[in-house]
Amino acid sequence: MVAPGKGILAADESSPTIKKRFDSIGVESTEQNRRTYRQMLFTTDGAEEFISGVILFDETLRQSTDDGIAFPKLLAEKGILPGIKVDKGAKALAGAEGEKVTEGLDGLRERLEEYRGLGARFAKWRAVITIGDGIPSDYCIDANAHALARYAALCVEGGIVPIVEPEVLMDGPHSIERCYEVTERTLCRVFDALYAQRVPLERTILKPNMVLSGNECPKQAGVREVAEATLHCFRRVVPAAVPGIVFLSGGQSDELATAHLNEMNKIAGGPWELSFSYGRALQAPPLKSWVGKPENIPSAQQAFYHRAQCNGAARSGSYSEEMESAT
Ligand code: 13P
Repeated sequence: MVAPGKGILAADESSPTIKKRFDSIGVESTEQNRRTYRQMLFTTDGAEEFISGVILFDETLRQSTDDGIAFPKLLAEKGILPGIKVDKGAKALAGAEGEKVTEGLDGLRERLEEYRGLGARFAKWRAVITIGDGIPSDYCIDANAHALARYAALCVEGGIVPIVEPEVLMDGPHSIERCYEVTERTLCRVFDALYAQRVPLERTILKPNMVLSGNECPKQAGVREVAEATLHCFRRVVPAAVPGIVFLSGGQSDELATAHLNEMNKIAGGPWELSFSYGRALQAPPLKSWVGKPENIPSAQQAFYHRAQCNGAARSGSYSEEMESAT
């Protein structure tokens, strides 16, 4: 999952989220269109040079190519690990105005067993932490940390590698310092819960946000500052036993998400692999290029390959802006 030069494609958008993405390009979100779009990504020639795993949504795990090859099989044949989003989304947290807790633990042991049978080798659970006036509360962070750990423990028991994703949202006018403080507090509680619930960290992958300025903050931290703040924060709270950290992009532009990862790998020096598990930052260019037209599939695949290649280079700090113009 965290092999050198490679990272993870998050293609696990739930039905409402993929509808939002398709709305942005004027494509109707039908089962057929979703299948065609995902097939386009998964059959991109050479993407496996830079993609080690793909996170799928329940519907996608059960779909097949035009030739009838199940998506998990297609990916496995290319040497790509199929993964599955298993949470059921972030819902309003009772008694906590403006905060959310992720649901989906009921029946999870059985669902994991089924997913493993369908070819999934790893899973993902996303918790959402919002920064605002007086939030996040410890109550919200603890409720989410507890659920993340229960999910991870069930995954390990079922022979599936858990990706633990506590996402501190970048939405809002907050500063990078505030993001640092909330990210540190969140990760600290998440690792406490993982320890308490006996989750072996050696078999767990962390998928966090980077430490960034809020997207409405008038003072935006530069690439070097983001890389340094993120590494400084993580060195305080992420145990060395964790084999890899795969960042989400969270609404950053595709080029900035790559530049941030690259800068971190230029500084890094361990103890973890620093990689990507991007959704929007890998899919924005192919989505825009495709716009639902079959004749655009080659150019859309080229756009996807290029983003994967840039992020593959960022894994070793060897990405450069010149790579962007070399499409
Ligand atoms: P983004 O990279 O678009 O944030 O998506 C990653 C993801 O899997 C969110 O859960």
